[in-house]
Amino acid sequence: MPVRTVYHLNIDSDQIEGAAIALLPGDPGRVQGLALTAPFERGRELASKREYRTWIAYLGSTPVLVTSTGIGGPSASIAIDELAQLGVRTFLRVGTTGAIQEDIDIGTVVITTGAVRLDGASTHYAPIEYPAVAHPDVVQAAAAAAAGLGVPFRTGVSASTDTFYPGQERYDSFSGYVPRRFQGITEEWRRLHVLNYEMESSTVLTLTAAMGLRGGCVAGVVVNRARSENVTKADLEAGESNAVKVAVAAVARLVAGR
Ligand code: URA
Repeated sequence: MPVRTVYHLNIDSDQIEGAAIALLPGDPGRVQGLALTAPFERGRELASKREYRTWIAYLGSTPVLVTSTGIGGPSASIAIDELAQLGVRTFLRVGTTGAIQEDIDIGTVVITTGAVRLDGASTHYAPIEYPAVAHPDVVQAAAAAAAGLGVPFRTGVSASTDTFYPGQERYDSFSGYVPRRFQGITEEWRRLHVLNYEMESSTVLTLTAAMGLRGGCVAGVVVNRARSENVTKADLEAGESNAVKVAVAAVARLVAGR
């Protein structure tokens, strides 16, 4: 087979050694730590370009990729499309999130089953009527991983926005203005049993479903918007570390076929 190179990720099909599964943090700074988390072994960097940093690691002899997507749908869509071009078939996003239901504690891991599509990128892959749904294998692996680790988790619908400030109805922005279409929207999502806000699940789940691939998202709660607007360092650490544990264990389950 001819070697295939993808432009933005700056990797080729030979380098990924047939890897069919990828973990997708948003932050390039989280890639190395994820790739070096047990039971992953022999992690090493393949490339680093713009927001895209890719490491390869192994579960026994099975290669696993860890690729950062940057923040939001447009950059995530490029990462997913290019990884799929190279042969990746299962995608698990790992990130952080703001809960909107009062009863969700900091550190809880939200396993998204479906996303409210408040992004733009996913509409370039499938019309807005198309559902952003996670693959049941991925949801099941993440839920089993969280339960096995004793990490608190919730499964359900996430609101996935293109913007952190107005789209998530934040008034503590530069202008302080939230356009009318978003004023009161958090209460509406709350009443519709949406669990949380984040910024990539719509793109990840729409693209993977529309391309016939497996996708899922796990996100650690770093703030509860029903209680506070402040993200503390300790809360960030609690949300991030639980999400990483669950994501790595979920990938191990998917590779093992459990
Ligand atoms: N990520 C988001 O998109 N929103 C939050 O409130 C926290 C993390």
